[in-house]
Amino acid sequence: MLFSVFFKVLGATSLFSSASARLDARATTAPSYITSQSPISKAGILANIGPSGSKSSGAASGVVIASPSTVNPNYLYTWIRDSSLVYKLLIDQFTQGQDSTLQASITAWVSSMKTIQQVTNPSGTVSTGGLGEPKFNIDQSAFTGSWGRPQRDSPALRSISLLTYANWLESNGGSSTVTGTIWPMVILDLDYVAANWNATGFDLWEEVNGSSFWTIAVQHKALRLGATFATTIGDATRHSTYTTQAAGLLCFLQSFWSPTGAYMVANINQNNGRSGLDANTILASIATFDPSATCSDVASFQPCSDKALANHYAVVNSFRSLYTVNSGIASTAAVAIGRYPEDVYFNGNPWYLATFAAAEQLYDALYTWNKVGSISITSISLPFFKQFLSTAAVGTFAKTTTQYTTIVAGVQTMADGFLLIDAKYTPTAGGLAEQFDKATGVPTSAADLTWSYAASLTAFARRNSTVPASWGAAGLTVTCPATVAVTFTVDATTVFGENIYLSGSLLQLTDWSSTSPIAMSAAAYPIWSVTVVLPANTAFQYKYIRINNGVVTWDSDPNYSYTTGASGSVTLSDTWR
Ligand code: NOJ
Ligand code: NOJ
Repeated sequence: MLFSVFFKVLGATSLFSSASARLDARATTAPSYITSQSPISKAGILANIGPSGSKSSGAASGVVIASPSTVNPNYLYTWIRDSSLVYKLLIDQFTQGQDSTLQASITAWVSSMKTIQQVTNPSGTVSTGGLGEPKFNIDQSAFTGSWGRPQRDSPALRSISLLTYANWLESNGGSSTVTGTIWPMVILDLDYVAANWNATGFDLWEEVNGSSFWTIAVQHKALRLGATFATTIGDATRHSTYTTQAAGLLCFLQSFWSPTGAYMVANINQNNGRSGLDANTILASIATFDPSATCSDVASFQPCSDKALANHYAVVNSFRSLYTVNSGIASTAAVAIGRYPEDVYFNGNPWYLATFAAAEQLYDALYTWNKVGSISITSISLPFFKQFLSTAAVGTFAKTTTQYTTIVAGVQTMADGFLLIDAKYTPTAGGLAEQFDKATGVPTSAADLTWSYAASLTAFARRNSTVPASWGAAGLTVTCPATVAVTFTVDATTVFGENIYLSGSLLQLTDWSSTSPIAMSAAAYPIWSVTVVLPANTAFQYKYIRINNGVVTWDSDPNYSYTTGASGSVTLSDTWR
């Protein structure tokens, strides 16, 4: 009987050599999982880096493969996102003195990225948008197949990792490498971010073309780090440009918060019919954790800020009854977490890295509460806290109170619980795939996903109070750039069933979309009108579109142009040509 069950499991998962759930003692506590898994995760990362990694043959020096899996799915490519996040971990380990052997590998990654930046690809050349390309072949050549591109988190994540290393080099005799190699690379990436953050692109899951919380959050952090570094290196112009654009990003970041849902909507400026609950937002919170900030730093959604905790609560709960592996788990305990509840990729399963991220956000929060010496509960975070203390109430609770100790104990148990979910579905040999099956818990999709290994190690580090460098989140306040309310009017005679729309060169004008342009009102027919709030002092182009039963007709050339003033409102009066 046992024998046949064993064979069924193996039969269903031939790709995974030891796919039975981990049943040995190592998985029973968070510390025992950390002890057994850490070396396996580290080795798993190094095996996936060219040229000498044991599972990455064919990869150029410094190239991180996403996974050695070549079929269903084929992940034998290098994604800038995965690679940059993996090297953020390795650079942190090196610069914090936890692993002094990594410098050659970091140097190889820097040169590989220097090459890749210059590779012309379907998103463009280095100066015409190519920096937004998400993935490359492992020999560093362009991937030319169709894909969700651009993905504008890529240059931001790369520059965050590069700047972390540059800061170390600056104080360790390496400033010539910084000025000769790294800062010029960072400038390429951050000039791209500064110029393009306001345009839509694909989200980190490579599916939604819109504005992604994750992307905006990491772009914001990247520009803040870059602005500070620009001062270090004496580039006053870039300090000023990056600071101005970072302020715009921080303002924009606020618009993802849903006060009614009490969570961050993962993607806006799109219409995909999803709830917006998405591990995207938890990943953003941990990727932008600043150990020098406090829980009042809600503008950047610090992990312990009331909004980020409410979001954690909402996202985690969205997976509670979704997966069979979560059934029977108490309503306040950790569960397996996927990308987003509506996911259908590989049938929609929990992901190791998303479950690790749910743990990591809580470890970050525990770190900050301990540092600050108290927990503040607001009406926004109250439901999160009630999971651990049913009598929790709005207020501030010092370390000496029983409220504080009860909550901290409960949060620690939940955080460890997420690790133990991952532990439970980690095969005995410790390989971490991308996903585990929502019904059987058997690993699925790409085996040995480099990002899964990195996600385990960052969560383990935070549990141990090993935290990343600060990036300036403390004390940030939102100052939204000035805007002008522009009323567009066009005199256009239409036939029954025909409507007039507006499209133009700014994100607020749909970035020239003809499939989802801005609808205009015919209340004063034949004058069609719509008012759009646009950034002040900004030049843009626009046009009107006539749509009749799906048939799209653009107004004749040339495009209209306009430059907004400093503030106030204006009406533009045009006539269909
Ligand atoms: C491959 C992408 O990597 C994955 O994130 C996505 O879900 C699928 N394509 C389907 O679009
Ligand atoms: C699919 C994931 O959705 C995406 O985020 C990742 O970059 C690629 N797989 C490669 O791991």
